[in-house]
Amino acid sequence: MPTVDVVAMPDQIHGPTGPIAVVVDVLRATTMIAALLDAGVSGILPVATVEQAREAAGSRPGYLLAGEREGIPPEGFAMGNSPVRIDPGLVRGRLIVLTTTNGTRAITLSRDAEHCLMLALTNLDRVAERLWALDQDTLIVCSGTDGGRSDEDELAAGLLADRLQGWTLTDRAEEVRDRATGSIGACGGIDHAVARSWHARRLTELGFGDDVAFCSRLSVTRTVPRLDRASGLITAD
Ligand code: MLT
Repeated sequence: MPTVDVVAMPDQIHGPTGPIAVVVDVLRATTMIAALLDAGVSGILPVATVEQAREAAGSRPGYLLAGEREGIPPEGFAMGNSPVRIDPGLVRGRLIVLTTTNGTRAITLSRDAEHCLMLALTNLDRVAERLWALDQDTLIVCSGTDGGRSDEDELAAGLLADRLQGWTLTDRAEEVRDRATGSIGACGGIDHAVARSWHARRLTELGFGDDVAFCSRLSVTRTVPRLDRASGLITAD
């Protein structure tokens, strides 16, 4: 049976990520990526910095700039990182350059994997199905928040590990799974567990409480975003 491991932050990746990396940034990058694909974008180019995003969009006519720093869109960006505020009329059929503080950095640090997939709570069951089909060792990469651990990413990582019944869980994966299942019981539901996190409280203070609610829904989409190593683009798997 394949092994599943979890890192709390991308900086804990040492060496190659292995055949499968699953990157998770529940609030909000990987949820946003799945939502953009659901809204009909044709591809998303994830980049780590605002400068790289501006350069990439400058050299690729027709790309839309999206993302956030400190939660809000950098100057000149067409949109932020809010899945609730996606304008389908604007994005349908377009290519997007996306940069976020933690999530797109985690994706770029995981791109060596043969299969680099994106996990959110919103697509959790579908990602589990894909992993069952791929049937290979998997590293779940939590994006963390500003250099620290992120409760909501570890919650999704733990729930995914819990779905992979019969797989070999490393000690870290087992610990994350036990904490995730325990915290849902203790908090009275996934949405309550997410709402308690530092990042959820910060987004709510910034006026993005509706994003927190959007990102807390479990398995509402079948979209599994996947990074294509050759083109650097994320599309639906
Ligand atoms: C990140 O990548 O750090 C997040 O997606 C930030 C956010 O939009 O809240």
